[in-house]
Amino acid sequence: MHFSTALVSAFAATLVAAHPGANVQEEAQERRDYLATAKRTSLDHCSAQLKARGLGQAAALRRRAVAEKKSKRGLLHQRDLADLNKSHHSDADYDAQTPLDTLFAKEKSCVLAPETTEGPYYVAGEFIRQNVVEEEQGVPLTLDLAIYDVETCDPITDTWVQIWSCNSTGIYSGVPSGADYTPAPENLDTTFLRGFQQTDASGALQFETLYPGHYSGRTQHIHVAVHPDASPRANRTILEATVSHIGQLYFDQDLSDRVERLAPYSANTQPVTANDKDALLLVDLESTDPIVEYVMLGDKVEDGVLAWFSFGVNMTATREADVAATYYESGGVATPKEE
Ligand SMILES: *[C@@H]1O[C@H](CO)[C@@H](O)[C@H](O)[C@H]1NC(C)=O
Ligand SMILES: *[C@@H]1O[C@H](CO)[C@@H](O)[C@H](O)[C@H]1NC(C)=O
Ligand SMILES: *[C@@H]1O[C@H](CO)[C@@H](O)[C@H](O)[C@H]1NC(C)=O
Ligand SMILES: *[C@@H]1O[C@H](CO)[C@@H](O)[C@H](O)[C@H]1NC(C)=O
Repeated sequence: MHFSTALVSAFAATLVAAHPGANVQEEAQERRDYLATAKRTSLDHCSAQLKARGLGQAAALRRRAVAEKKSKRGLLHQRDLADLNKSHHSDADYDAQTPLDTLFAKEKSCVLAPETTEGPYYVAGEFIRQNVVEEEQGVPLTLDLAIYDVETCDPITDTWVQIWSCNSTGIYSGVPSGADYTPAPENLDTTFLRGFQQTDASGALQFETLYPGHYSGRTQHIHVAVHPDASPRANRTILEATVSHIGQLYFDQDLSDRVERLAPYSANTQPVTANDKDALLLVDLESTDPIVEYVMLGDKVEDGVLAWFSFGVNMTATREADVAATYYESGGVATPKEE
C-alpha cells in the first residue's frame, strides 16, 4: 500500500465532519441545477427515431435473450409481469397477456449530467470487466445499459462506461470509509462492485453485479459514469476521470424491500432511507424517471434480477470528475481533500 496515513485521516475526517445529509443535499442541488438548464431530461423525444432504426427492437431481443439464458425456471412466466406491474413509477400497463417483446422493449431513460454529482465515492484506475462481483454475497443483478446522444438520438458506440455501488451491507470498495461514514483505510485496497465495459454498435453493454445495499442517508442506487475519452491501459484498467457524464440508477421500493429482508442485506445496521425520502432521487423525479425496468430471473428474488435502462448523454457538455481515490497495483491511494 502506498497511501499516506495523513492523507487518509484528512479524507476520513472530511467525511466524518460533514453530516452525511449535508453532502446529499449539496449533490441534490447540483443535480437540480443541471436539470434546470438541460433542454432534455430523458430520451422520450428519440423514441420514433430509435424505432425507425430498429434499435428498440434490438434492445428488446437482447434483454429477452439474457433473461431466457439466465432464468432459473426455464421460461419467464406471468409472475414477471405481475411484478413489473407493481412498479409504482412505471406508466406501463402490463398484464399476463403482454407479449415478452413488448415487455422487454419498455424503455426508461434519463440524462447523465456533465456535473460533479458523483458523490464522495468515485475511484479512478478500476478494472475493465463484465463481472464485478468478486467474493461479495448478495442478489445477482444483470444490468443492461444503453447510452444515446441526447442531441442526435444516435447510440454512443465504443465508449467506456463505469459503474460502482456499495455491497449488501452498505460499504463501498476503494475508499477509506466504512459503515456510517466511519474511517476504514483498509477499504482502499478493495475493488468489488466497480468496473468498466465498452458500448457496442447499438450503444449497449452489460454488467454482472449485485443488487446494492444501502447506507445512511441514501436509498439503494448504482452510480454510472460515461468516459468519452478514456483509453484502456495494458493491464486492463482505466485511469481517465476527465469529461465524465455521471448519474445514478434506482430501483422500485417493493423490490428493494424484498432484497433487504434477505441475508446478508438484513445484517446491515445502517438506517434505511426509502425512495420517497432520498433527496437525490426526488430531484430526478421532478423531471424524469431514473428507476430501472426489470424482470425476476426465478421464483425467488435470490435467483437474480435483470434490470435495464437507457441514458442520454450531452456529448458537447463535459466536466471533470472529483476523484476520491485511485487504485494502483500496490493498492488504493486517497486523494487529499481541498478545504
Ligand atoms: C448540451 O450542452 C450544450 C453546451 O452546454 C448546451 O448548449 C445544449 O443546450 C445541451 N443540450 C441539451 C439537449 O441539453
Ligand atoms: C396491472 O395494472 C393495471 C392497472 O393498474 C391493472 O388493471 C392490471 O390488472 C394489472 N395486471 C396485473 C397482471 O397485475
Ligand atoms: C462489505 O464490505 C466490507 C468491506 O470490505 C466487508 O467488511 C463486509 O463484510 C462486506 N459485506 C458482506 C456482506 O460481505
Ligand atoms: C496498471 O498500470 C498502470 C500503469 O502502468 C499502473 O500505474 C497501475 O498501478 C496498474 N494497475 C493495476 C491494478 O495493476
